[in-house]
Amino acid sequence: MSTSKPKMPLLAGLDIGSTKVCLVIGTVNPDGKIEIVGVGTAPNTGIRQGVVVNIEATTESIKKAKEEAELMSGYSISEAWVGVAGTHITSFDSKGMVAIKNREVTASEIERVIEAAKAVNVPADRAVLHVLPREFKVDGQDGITDPIGMSGVRLEANVHIVTGSQSALNNSIKCVEKAGLKISGLVLSQLASATSVISNDEKNLGVCVVDMGGGACNALYLVNGSVAHSSTIPVGGQHFTHDVAIGLRTPQFAAEDLKKKHGCAMASMVSDAETVEVEGVGGRKARVIPRKDLADVIEARAEETMNLIANDIRMSGLVPMLGSGIVLTGGASQLDGLTEMGEFIFDIPVRRGVPREIGGLTDVVKTGEFAVAVGLLQYGLAQRKDLVQHTQQHEVNLGESIDGLTRKIKDFFGQVF
Ligand SMILES: Nc1ncnc2c1ncn2[C@@H]1O[C@H](COP(=O)(O)OP(=O)(O)OP(=O)(O)O)[C@@H](O)[C@H]1O
Ligand SMILES: [Mg+2]
Repeated sequence: MSTSKPKMPLLAGLDIGSTKVCLVIGTVNPDGKIEIVGVGTAPNTGIRQGVVVNIEATTESIKKAKEEAELMSGYSISEAWVGVAGTHITSFDSKGMVAIKNREVTASEIERVIEAAKAVNVPADRAVLHVLPREFKVDGQDGITDPIGMSGVRLEANVHIVTGSQSALNNSIKCVEKAGLKISGLVLSQLASATSVISNDEKNLGVCVVDMGGGACNALYLVNGSVAHSSTIPVGGQHFTHDVAIGLRTPQFAAEDLKKKHGCAMASMVSDAETVEVEGVGGRKARVIPRKDLADVIEARAEETMNLIANDIRMSGLVPMLGSGIVLTGGASQLDGLTEMGEFIFDIPVRRGVPREIGGLTDVVKTGEFAVAVGLLQYGLAQRKDLVQHTQQHEVNLGESIDGLTRKIKDFFGQVF
């Protein structure tokens, strides 16, 4: 493994999923876009629905993914942006208000109003992951996204706060650190996915992004360009595989393979003539069945999953604001016929989302499975705008830190929602 230092800024994104751990290394090109230089993945059995259930197994998977990505890129990394998700995550709206000193909004007012909005009762066993500004108001005038320089006496902020269980987060942190990596920052997984698969237009028109993983579906609602809601639905690709294994009496690995290669979420899309070979369990002979039978098994689960998502969307109360519809990403979104099933159930436009606006090894990461890891790089870059300037000046300065205030302001206007 190389230990060379690159002549440009280096970022790493670590997605600790319930089926695989994935680490992506990227640099920043002169246009300020992420250039993927290394990808490593390793199967993981230590996570269930976003939460660590086995520290040893998860640590080992992180180490493997890191080594593979380092080997591919030729660089060694010491820190990474880490995605976190799961049913322990909750998010809610909050408000803050401050007086404007000298009658003009400055960065310090923004910092104070965000602090005021953050000063809600968060129980001691929960940690704040994000404080995402939704809008500012100056003297009651609403809909302001960047109030700096505006005149007035009263500044208000509406923010969306994301919190997670301290112990669940600590376990993730422990695994990353045991694998020899520092944490650049913890980021809500679906916020990272949205960063990589959603366009600005979609963000402004309103969209619901659903990252369909192995153990769960993580949703993020973006309205008027900012985060309005997030949720986790505890059903994922593993449930589809389990159904195929039980329904067609075949081993799990064969069911997984069958689902990926020949699965379809809508039995009506499959012709009667198509057949597939199904491996038997316990030494029984393989048999040939109509592909429609496989689709029937998968369709039942797909319909249930889509109904759970539809219910989540209804409960959010944001349906009228989702002008761009729904974007499905994550590994399980690749199932054939899933967007068709989605449109049938949601009755609003549905598309698949894959990482966009990246260069380098794009053919490796341009699938939903890498949305979180690639999004972490893009999120990380948006927090560190200084890296872009440095590449443009062809300077090396990865280790340089930004002073507290500037960094916070950059966080607030990080161009990431
Ligand atoms: N072509 C495909 N068709 C159907 N399912 C697929 C396909 N490719 C991958 N999957 C499923 O996607 C799931 C893995 O997706 P992903 O890598 O996004 O999950 P993860 O991040 O490990 O899990 P989670 O986000 O739930 O923690 C697996 O269940 C896998 O079977
Ligand atoms: Mg995932």
